[in-house]
Amino acid sequence: MNPSVRTAVIPAAGLGTRFLPATKAQPKEMLAVVDRPAIQYVVEEAVAAGLDDVLVVTSRGKSAIEDHFDRLPELEAELDRKGKHDALDTVVALAQGPRMHYVRQGEPLGLGHAIAMAADHVGGSPFAVLLPDDLMVDDAALLRGMLAAHRERGASVIALKKVPSDEISAYGCPRVEPVDGSLVRIQEIVEKPSPEDAPSDLAVTGRYVFGPAIFDALGKVEPGKGGEIQLTDAIGTLAASEPVYGWVFSDGRYDVGTPLDHLRATVEIALARPELRSTFGPFLADAVRRHGLG
Ligand code: G1P
Repeated sequence: MNPSVRTAVIPAAGLGTRFLPATKAQPKEMLAVVDRPAIQYVVEEAVAAGLDDVLVVTSRGKSAIEDHFDRLPELEAELDRKGKHDALDTVVALAQGPRMHYVRQGEPLGLGHAIAMAADHVGGSPFAVLLPDDLMVDDAALLRGMLAAHRERGASVIALKKVPSDEISAYGCPRVEPVDGSLVRIQEIVEKPSPEDAPSDLAVTGRYVFGPAIFDALGKVEPGKGGEIQLTDAIGTLAASEPVYGWVFSDGRYDVGTPLDHLRATVEIALARPELRSTFGPFLADAVRRHGLG
């Protein structure tokens, strides 16, 4: 039996330049989607998939993330005094979730460099990486599937999604061979290729399950695309020496680091909430009609 995965590593050190000015003075991971910050959904997804330990890689200006998952005695006392018990329970529950840990990436040297910061915490165990820009509205189905594939194969598993060819240059892109169902084997992988050079139409999306060998691979790669240490390059190095799998999925992913997908995620999540669906649904239908769209 392969060791089970306990830790989710969430790299949250990026600047959020695709969502200015909202992210000028606020971490992009803290942008609210309906009623909670994006990073909370990602932590909830990790817990729903069975993980109980979270390491967030942060940077300057990100302390709101730590505050969000911590106790806030003044607020709790105030909510208690006012008899707002539901709100109090919500706030207290947040600080009673998985074990939260933080490490800072002092310099913006790339996603691969951010993941390498997790080596001391993770040690010799397998772990998951969840990019908080990628919000999954799927009841953790993708991550669960990937963790099951990891348990079965004892190898790293990367989430892959088919994208139109004019979008591939925003992603890591592998050449793959089919294995079984959703599972493919990654033969080589390039970071942000031009459409002409892309080895497939599959884009690496922000969920990964790694064995500790990824840290050796990260130690070997040179700065790549954009002069940064790229996680994609380390995956390529790893795939040259051991099997690395891709898990192809299609639905439920929103890039909440961009205004358009943030809106889409907001609508999806709001319509799935019983307490909002009955009022927000008719509002949305009416708005679509009033704007001459349907
Ligand atoms: C990162 C990775 C890229 C991956 C993408 C998924 O890019 O480097 O391989 O496809 O996340 O969202 P970024 O979006 O940070 O530029």
